[in-house]
Amino acid sequence: MKNDLFLRALKGETVDRPPVWMMRQAGRYLPEFMEIKAKYDFFTRCQTPELASEITVQPIRRYGMDAAILFSDILVIPQAMNIEVQMKPNFGPYLPNPVRTSKDVNNAIVPDVKEALDYVYQAIKATKEKLNDEIPLIGFAGSPWTILCYCVQGQGSKNFDKAKAFCFTNPVAAHQMLQKITDTTIAYLKEKVKAGVNAVQVFDSWGGMLSPTDYQEFSWQYINQIIEALKDDAPVIAFGKGCWFALGEMAKSGASALGVDWTCSPKNARYLTGGNITLQGNFDPSRLLSPPETIKKMVHQMIDEFGKDKYIVNLGHGILPNIPLENAKAFIDAVKEYNM
Ligand code: CP3
Repeated sequence: MKNDLFLRALKGETVDRPPVWMMRQAGRYLPEFMEIKAKYDFFTRCQTPELASEITVQPIRRYGMDAAILFSDILVIPQAMNIEVQMKPNFGPYLPNPVRTSKDVNNAIVPDVKEALDYVYQAIKATKEKLNDEIPLIGFAGSPWTILCYCVQGQGSKNFDKAKAFCFTNPVAAHQMLQKITDTTIAYLKEKVKAGVNAVQVFDSWGGMLSPTDYQEFSWQYINQIIEALKDDAPVIAFGKGCWFALGEMAKSGASALGVDWTCSPKNARYLTGGNITLQGNFDPSRLLSPPETIKKMVHQMIDEFGKDKYIVNLGHGILPNIPLENAKAFIDAVKEYNM
């Protein structure tokens, strides 16, 4: 690997500057992404290795991040479990037959992920060829809780009230479903590593919806199963949006790094995690609307606060579609200029 900064930061090694990538870096702020999006619908892009690999390397060509993340979606898992998922333009994910009863849970299958998600591994192989061992490739999955949120709610939501109601009224079925998702996800991530990804990230986008106690019961214990199953195959990054309250518990796990969002200060994140584990984050994605010079100052300050070691520069959540190209460039360049 020509540039192994990202993998070294995951190991906690001393570096001249921290590595940088952006969550959702292959996305709608890029005109070259919009060109492909205009021609092919969402799941065609995910399922066609040539398209998925091209979209994955687009931001790398433009900005030279230190890691690529495979273009795909967390909702390929429910799809593989026989739960229909549509991606509606200007609406987002839509699941016409949501999981609402024990019978629905019984109908969800734990698939042969080798077969059901073969297109993902083909996309990984195509991407690895394009990356030519320049930088590492990240594979990802949603946390079981975040996947359950969509499976039960049937669409995005401000509070995922139906998903929570299901857990609190039918906890036995909810746990069965969470375990099925966990088993599928572990097998899936292991295949992704076999296909060539160098690290995996678990996105718990909706973990912060839960109280600290419910988080342990409905989210963390399943993420922890994934970490335990994967940690000897590849480094695992656990990102919980709004989950600062769980950072102490998460730091005791086998994860190589923890994601942090912008509602937790770098100092508090270091304090809560005991100062030893690699942290990733936590620039407010909306802050990329600031002028480029301000972005650069803020990024340098963020690196100073986290410390350059055991740190991966990132946003605190996905990049927004309305970010100017030169502002995204300022974010990446600021990191490369650090220590120069
Ligand atoms: O980071 C990357 O560049 C890789 C691409 C990536 C996508 N989805 C592509 C995508 C990743 C890492 C994801 C993960 C994902 N998908 C998450 C977890 C991360 C997070 O943001 O919290 C979640 C919750 C989803 C579910 C999902 N997919 C939603 C809610 C939406 C619609 C909202 C939106 O942003 O449009 C999607 C669609 C989606 N997934 C798009 C992209 C680029 C946009 C739609 C499109 O391109 O047609």
